[in-house]
Amino acid sequence: MPVNIAIDGPVGAGKSSIADTVAERLGILHLDTGAMYRTVGLAMLRLGVDPADEPAVSARVGEVAVNVRYQDGKQHTYLGEEDVTNLIRSGEVSAAASSVSRWPAVRRAMVAAQQRMASETDMLIDGRDIGTVVLKNAPVKIYLTASAEERARRRYKQNLEAGDDTAYEKVLEALNERDRQDMNRETDPLRQAEDAVLLDTTHLNYEESVEAILRIVEQVYGK
Ligand code: DC
Repeated sequence: MPVNIAIDGPVGAGKSSIADTVAERLGILHLDTGAMYRTVGLAMLRLGVDPADEPAVSARVGEVAVNVRYQDGKQHTYLGEEDVTNLIRSGEVSAAASSVSRWPAVRRAMVAAQQRMASETDMLIDGRDIGTVVLKNAPVKIYLTASAEERARRRYKQNLEAGDDTAYEKVLEALNERDRQDMNRETDPLRQAEDAVLLDTTHLNYEESVEAILRIVEQVYGK
């Protein structure tokens, strides 16, 4: 059985970057499933399909080839043969991803691809439904969160470093809106799996968060 670690949580909890470091320390791959939904969102924008239009998105999702490849241990996400790893980080694509991820046809396709990857390789997978749907039997499940204000503060800081000076209030508002959408959608909403360990990082720094996860993994896998 491959090593499978599931990490879920709301936007801005630091999942992706913390998961990246944890996976690197463990010497296993990290699959950021949000990147896959983002790629579907980007594809729909390019096709001129409204991400909020369920029938239209469902009809076209079969045409969208989301490919994940690893280069030097780092995930690169492809739309067909185009590396879209950086392109999918825009605000427009974030909103499109949140919309398309509501539709069952999209979720079915992504979940199947994720399950196939996890069955073949040791992986730490992060997303919204990993512990509840994708890897229901994962030996390690972690629900990573922090207060909305703290998550918005971290996102605001990251944005500034990237040259984006969107006001903190706006960042908080967008984050609350995405939380609302991710937690209230009908299909596989974001929620903590019953057997997941809750890790609130509001008062933890980056290294402390990494260490806390490594300790949880160690208890199960002994490494
Ligand atoms: O983690 P992220 O911000 O890159 O995710 C982008 C969107 O995709 C987010 O709005 C929720 C959705 N998503 C999802 O529904 N299920 C996942 N496993 C991962 C992400």
